[in-house]
Amino acid sequence: MWAPSPRQLCLGFLLVCVLSGISFFLYLHDIFQDGLGLSVLCRDHRLRSSPVAILCPRGANTSSCRQHPTSLSGTWTILPNGRFGNQMGQYATLLALAQLNGRRAFIMPAMHAALAPVFRITLPVLAPEVDSHTPWRKLQLHDWMSQEYFHLEDPFLKLSGFPCSWTFFHHLREQIRSEFTLHDHLREEAQGFLRELRLGYSGSRPHTFVGVHVRRGDYVHVMPQHWRGVIGDRAYLGQAMAWFRARHRDPIFVVTSNGMQWCRENIDTSKGDVVFAGDGQEGTPGKDFSLLTQCNHTIMTIGTFGFWAAYLAGGDTIYLANFTLPDSEFLNIFKPEAAFLPEWMGINANLSSLQASDMWSEFWKLGRLYI
Ligand SMILES: *[C@@H]1O[C@H](CO)[C@@H](O)[C@H](O)[C@H]1NC(C)=O
Ligand SMILES: *[C@@H]1O[C@H](CO)[C@@H](O)[C@H](O)[C@H]1NC(C)=O
Ligand SMILES: *[C@@H]1O[C@H](CO)[C@@H](O)[C@H](O)[C@H]1NC(C)=O
Repeated sequence: MWAPSPRQLCLGFLLVCVLSGISFFLYLHDIFQDGLGLSVLCRDHRLRSSPVAILCPRGANTSSCRQHPTSLSGTWTILPNGRFGNQMGQYATLLALAQLNGRRAFIMPAMHAALAPVFRITLPVLAPEVDSHTPWRKLQLHDWMSQEYFHLEDPFLKLSGFPCSWTFFHHLREQIRSEFTLHDHLREEAQGFLRELRLGYSGSRPHTFVGVHVRRGDYVHVMPQHWRGVIGDRAYLGQAMAWFRARHRDPIFVVTSNGMQWCRENIDTSKGDVVFAGDGQEGTPGKDFSLLTQCNHTIMTIGTFGFWAAYLAGGDTIYLANFTLPDSEFLNIFKPEAAFLPEWMGINANLSSLQASDMWSEFWKLGRLYI
């Protein structure tokens, strides 16, 4: 039998340390390569401890919180970045922060192109010549309201980031809802769809529609691989639907997703109250979104699209809670308490698949380097 000497053991240990270091480096490198386009924000680890400023505490008289500066000046805008839900968050945050600081807000043409076909938004569009001649100061926002955002003195400010937190704009909820009013043809199309559903089910009896948004697509890989997190699974959706069945008479679940095939295979339809709707096309979010906002209540999974559907639908909302491991970098850029309204209900995610696959992927990474 060969027995390693202390010297060999020590060398072996050093080798393992070096290899773990390398694989950790590769892992970080992966994150910064992609990371949902949010990666730059991750570098500031102080963010995790930066406090959330709540503009108007819940239950406060919101009309007295609202600020109406008498004269607006300056030019503020925000970089449009990411998909539909991200841009809604950027729009609402720009509007709220500019109003708070007495500045005029303009959106960039790309944001107008993304949002105006769906909503009756009113912020004016910044002309490209003005953009190129304005001496901008640039400011990258994190995704919760902070003390420093109350007093931004800059007359020319170009914001960026992926803000989508109610802490920026909930005091202006009615104004935000009005900005995100659907165009008539979209609302009528969605209402027509729901009307037919109701007739198909039981004639005139009133029904409760629960919009279910199942975010899949790239997140299926991005969440576990880059953020050490999960997306809504079959068990979560089952629990959330059971919650509504227990509390509402005759609910109808209207499912939209960018992974409809997965939904058909994994959502329990045995109660006969599930409808798969929408075309799930990433390029045409307006139809799915309209349908979700016309429902009475919402089941979200993850993502800003679901947040906005729930925020605008305004009924009971169930969200997936604690969907990353506690040491996830995601928690540096995402504060759950600033993302979900206090009255919404969270159901804890099951992270066990992640813990198991985490172990295997570390194992394979080491294995790959040895070979
Ligand atoms: C809220 O405040 C406004 C202005 O201070 C006041 O007129 C209004 O009556 C208040 N509303 C409630 C519900 O307290
Ligand atoms: C539920 O939503 C439907 C469709 O938008 C609407 O007709 C109905 O009035 C809503 N019910 C309640 C109680 O708000
Ligand atoms: C998420 O985890 C935190 C910390 O463990 C816990 O306080 C909270 O209740 C959890 N959320 C839900 C919805 O269970």
